[in-house]
Amino acid sequence: MKVTIIGGGGLVGSCAGFSLQAGGIVREIALVDVNQELCEGQALDLLHGSSIMAPQTITAGGTDQVADSDVVVITAGLRRKPDESRLDLINRNVALFRTILDDVKKHGLRNDAIVFVVSNPVDVLTYLAVQALSLPASQVIGLGTVLDTTRLRSMLAQQLSVPATQVSVTILGEHGDSMVPVWSQAQVANLPLEKYPGVTQSVIAEVESRTRGSGAEVIRKKGGAGFAVGVSIADVVHSIALDEGRILPVSSLQNGAYGLQDVCLSVPTVVGRGGVLSHIEVDLWSKERTALVNSGSVLRNTINTVMNG
Ligand code: 2OP
Repeated sequence: MKVTIIGGGGLVGSCAGFSLQAGGIVREIALVDVNQELCEGQALDLLHGSSIMAPQTITAGGTDQVADSDVVVITAGLRRKPDESRLDLINRNVALFRTILDDVKKHGLRNDAIVFVVSNPVDVLTYLAVQALSLPASQVIGLGTVLDTTRLRSMLAQQLSVPATQVSVTILGEHGDSMVPVWSQAQVANLPLEKYPGVTQSVIAEVESRTRGSGAEVIRKKGGAGFAVGVSIADVVHSIALDEGRILPVSSLQNGAYGLQDVCLSVPTVVGRGGVLSHIEVDLWSKERTALVNSGSVLRNTINTVMNG
């Protein structure tokens, strides 16, 4: 499988490239970036480690790389400032994103290609990609709340001193301020979270608050996310590459789950080689369902603004 990463010279794109190399599952990683020198440097640095890591082809090139790619990951875009919401970023990133989509369309895509949006605001840009590309909507996905979900699981595990891989809680909705942690289904080692020793409402509230602010916190401390977003991207790509059908909170065009229509956000989604195989409408507390519908409204309003802009 060939994966092209547009924005592969940057922090997010290069960390995604390294995560795919470490996973050893995809066969070809092509980095594309407007900063060609940086892109070539990232590809060379990855290539230097390939004799230890995996027998992969790793290159730096132009957008023409998308034409024979199985998955096109779009990470390019301006990063938000710490005090800026992802939706505030919209005006600066929409124009850039539209030029990237035009460039991709100019070179063409495989009929079975998956376009995987990471650039922010990811839900709005995923919607724009669905509208602009001639692929079925099921073949256009966004990272959505996959990163938020892994952050919440990881920080809750640290708080409870349990293995992070045994914490199960999912965030749905917008990758942004209206995200919806689904505490009603949360578990530690397949046991109900609320009955686990050390779990209190204040612990839950504190970890949720830190998760909501994680993007801005990482930007303040180091300029932006890299490692966690990179492994989140690779986790989704691997479900595609292996046609695993894992249920992941990726962003995609909604067509009825939770009453949501004509908006891109994260609901439980079966992800395989065909992209979105199905949406799973898991039962939620009424306040969670209300929050999810609100997330859809927030995003729908922003999409309307962008489309009429
Ligand atoms: C974040 O939350 C990049 O939006 C991403 O860090």
